[in-house]
Amino acid sequence: MGQFVKAAKTDEIQAGRCIGVKVEGVFVGIYNVAGEYHAMNNICPHLGGVLSYGFLSDSVITCPLHMWEFDVKSGKCVWPGQTCIATYPVKVQGDDILVDVNSPVYAKVEA
Ligand code: FES
Repeated sequence: MGQFVKAAKTDEIQAGRCIGVKVEGVFVGIYNVAGEYHAMNNICPHLGGVLSYGFLSDSVITCPLHMWEFDVKSGKCVWPGQTCIATYPVKVQGDDILVDVNSPVYAKVEA
């Protein structure tokens, strides 16, 4: 288990929005899905698009470059599928959002 470090303030990310931040050298997207915060690597595995610049609908972010879609809760690619991105544990302490980038979680991907 790694260490949680402060990544953002809760009032920086309204519900349905996201931001991109560097946490210990890792570019992370932090998403507010109906008041719940999620952190996922911010670089699209297709060709390096910045996912937090994309369009967030419910828990799915659409990459702004070629429209690949990822569920920010699991990191799973929902379109075109067969890949995933690392997500990171998040906790909220007071009005700080803390992320542990040293404990990435990878969704199981069906071949
Ligand atoms: S870079 Fe994200 S879909 Fe192509």
